[in-house]
Amino acid sequence: MKPEVQPNKIVVLSGSGLSAESGLPTFRDSNGLWNQYAWHEVASPEGWQARPEAVLAFYNERRAKAAAVAPNAAHRAIAALEQAYEVVVVTQNVDDLHERAGSTNILHVHGELIYARGTSDARLRYRIDAAPITLGQLCEHGTQLRPDIVWFGEPTQFMEEARAHVASAAKVLVVGTSLSVYPAAGLVKAARGRAEKVLNCLDFDKVPFGYTFMQGKATEVVPALVNTWLNQAQSQA
Ligand code: APR
Repeated sequence: MKPEVQPNKIVVLSGSGLSAESGLPTFRDSNGLWNQYAWHEVASPEGWQARPEAVLAFYNERRAKAAAVAPNAAHRAIAALEQAYEVVVVTQNVDDLHERAGSTNILHVHGELIYARGTSDARLRYRIDAAPITLGQLCEHGTQLRPDIVWFGEPTQFMEEARAHVASAAKVLVVGTSLSVYPAAGLVKAARGRAEKVLNCLDFDKVPFGYTFMQGKATEVVPALVNTWLNQAQSQA
């Protein structure tokens, strides 16, 4: 049973390209993280088993970098949508730039850099902000702390909830993602035919069916689109 479309609901599905203009690397662009690191060594359970210190170092560096940058105009525009709409941000990003820009309803389907968790029980989460995790740091059950990140091969978080939000959205904005990683990428298909659907990134060889492709930098495209949507809400008020 598909949920009713809520006329005042917007879902934003974001990826690393949204944080690129804040100064954080993407994954698959030319200078992306997966061109600098082997993902299976630093972002997989196997990598964690083999060399936990390499995994901790990779995320300690990313956590410090994310803490040192600021949200950009696109993050802020997405937060501003909450003035007139019910907004749910479903993000593949593990930085907290959406939070710091003021968005209040965010699902991190791939985890969060600012938390650590126990190796035995994922529910044992500890907010660490920008602090590094070191070997020997244990959770309250005595297991080694690890980044609260969903690694390749681990279950993506909040998927049912995210899918239901997309299916009930009147507008869907997909921004800064190559839609390479499932199941997160499959969320675009949950959007209803009658919903307004927009995809913003730098270049796309296959725009999902029914989506309007807005090519360009997020800090240019997203604020302009948000302006249009806020003006729409105002004229319908
Ligand atoms: N403005 C808009 N889009 C941009 C910008 C920008 N300034 N810079 C890059 N992009 C777009 C690129 O065109 C590309 O489509 O952002 C996208 C980045 O794609 P990826 O590097 O694949 O990042 P992402 O889609 O977030 O990766 C998904 O892969 O490794 C996993 O867990 C990781 O969450 C990540 C997932």
